[in-house]
Amino acid sequence: MTPGIRPLVAGNWKMNGLKSALGELEIMRDASKPGNKPNHDMLVCVPFTLLAQAAEMASRSSFNIGAQDCHKNISGAHTGDISVEMIADCGAEAVIVGHSERRTDHGETNIEVLGKANAALDWGHMAIICIGESESQRKSGETLNVLKAQMDGSIPDSPANGEIVVAYEPIWAIGTGLTPTVQDISEAHNFMRNELVDRFGEAGKSIRLLYGGSVKPANAKELMGIDNVDGALVGGASLKAVDFLGICEAYQ
Ligand code: PGA
Repeated sequence: MTPGIRPLVAGNWKMNGLKSALGELEIMRDASKPGNKPNHDMLVCVPFTLLAQAAEMASRSSFNIGAQDCHKNISGAHTGDISVEMIADCGAEAVIVGHSERRTDHGETNIEVLGKANAALDWGHMAIICIGESESQRKSGETLNVLKAQMDGSIPDSPANGEIVVAYEPIWAIGTGLTPTVQDISEAHNFMRNELVDRFGEAGKSIRLLYGGSVKPANAKELMGIDNVDGALVGGASLKAVDFLGICEAYQ
C-alpha cells in the first residue's frame, strides 16, 4: 500500500454473469454499507447487459459499478459499441480500458486504449488502464520496457474530470493461479510509481496502482502489503461474494 492512498478493490466479471448473478452483487453491496464501513473503495465491473441493474442496486451505497470497455466517441455509426455517455446513463462510474484480453482478442493498440481512456476521463469516469507483460517478454527480461511503452502510449496526459487508475496485470498470471514473486511485483510497482511521478509530478504520487492476476483471499494480504500496491483488480474471484469479500478483508 501507499501511505495516504485509499485502496481500491475492483472486480472484473469479464464475459460472465446473468441476471441471476445480481444476488452476489447484493451481498457485496450490503457489506459496504455504513456501519460496516470498509477502509477501501469497492467497485465491480460487470458486463454491459447488467450495468443498469447493477448500478441501480449499488446506488445510495459506497459500492460502485463500472464497465469493462468503452468507445472513444460519444455516439455515432459504431455498430455494437458502447460510449462513456451510455455507461454514465446506466449509472456506472468507472471503465476498465486496455485489458490484455481486449488488446489480444480485439487487437487494441496503445493509441486506441489512450482514446478510450481520454473519453472516459473527459466524461468524469474513473479509467482503470491495464498494462502487463507476456510470459515470453518476462523471460527475455523486457518487462519494464514493455510497461514503460504501455504507460507512455496509453495513459492520458491529464485525468480531466475523472480519475486515472493503473492496473499492472502480468498476462501470464491472469486466470492461471500463478502470481509473480513479491519482489517482482514490488519492482514493477516501484517502477510504475517513478514513471508516474516523472510524468505528473506530485500528482503521480497519489495515482492508485492496482495489481491483478490470480488474486485470491489466500494471497490478498501478502499482495496488499507490497509498497505501491494500492489495491487489486480481481477476475475469477470477484464472481462470488464470499471470495471477493475475503479479498476485501485484507484491507480491514
Ligand atoms: P484473474 O483475472 O483474477 O481471474 O486472474 C484478473 C483480470 O484479468 O483482471
